[in-house]
Amino acid sequence: MAEVVFVDSEAAAGTLAAASIRSLILQKPDAVLGLATGSTPLSVYAALAASLKADPIDVSRVRGFALDEYVGLPADHPESYRSVITRDAVVPLGLNPSKILVPGGDPATIRTAGLDYEALIVAAGGVDVQILGIGRTGHVGFNEPGSSFASLTRIKTLTEKTRADNARFFPSIDDVPIHCMTQGLGTILRARHLILLAFGDEKADAIAAAVEGPVTSSKPGSVIQLHPHVTVIVDEAAASKLQNLDYYRYAWANKPWPGI
Ligand code: PGA
Repeated sequence: MAEVVFVDSEAAAGTLAAASIRSLILQKPDAVLGLATGSTPLSVYAALAASLKADPIDVSRVRGFALDEYVGLPADHPESYRSVITRDAVVPLGLNPSKILVPGGDPATIRTAGLDYEALIVAAGGVDVQILGIGRTGHVGFNEPGSSFASLTRIKTLTEKTRADNARFFPSIDDVPIHCMTQGLGTILRARHLILLAFGDEKADAIAAAVEGPVTSSKPGSVIQLHPHVTVIVDEAAASKLQNLDYYRYAWANKPWPGI
């Protein structure tokens, strides 16, 4: 089962996750990071950037794969995930931009872009740690409800709910692309460690379904129950619909080693 860790703040979640990623990079200087976009992972990138500033380590060989990309936005559009990942992670962490890859969102190549991206992940030796948020629809990456647990990187159609959630980054919902390229749930399952973060009560249903609900493609986050090494970091609000809170707290308090 997933390790479920409760935090008081997004900053505390960021500190925990960043410590784990830092330790990974120290052990494996060419570590492969799975990078999520959106609001959720910002505290992780901020904490890791602060840690690297206070006590620098060599990150020049770190590699990264973004989870997803909009189809049809030019790469230099400020809301393309290429731009977002550059702004939120590559620049603040001082990563080598040439080692950070994003699925191709060019409509001209979308039929082959998924398989090409999968081949690059395999050639890199797979993702060591995948950072994940979760959407109100229960999606991870942009794997909307109904996505196959065996799915690999491919084009998906965004739900209206997801487009409405992401409209805050665009002039209007009509400007939010309808399609995306996203790593599949099968791609995510291949990563060696998943760190899923969620904050706020609007994520409580999705977290309960992911951690404790039936394993079903109707709740794509429930794919984490099929993975052997998952850490879920949640605040009290996002955790509010979990049933086994006492056990999670007990397991964390008695963990034989510190950190995630
Ligand atoms: P958010 O999005 O981090 O911006 O809440 C999460 C998601 O949609 O996966």
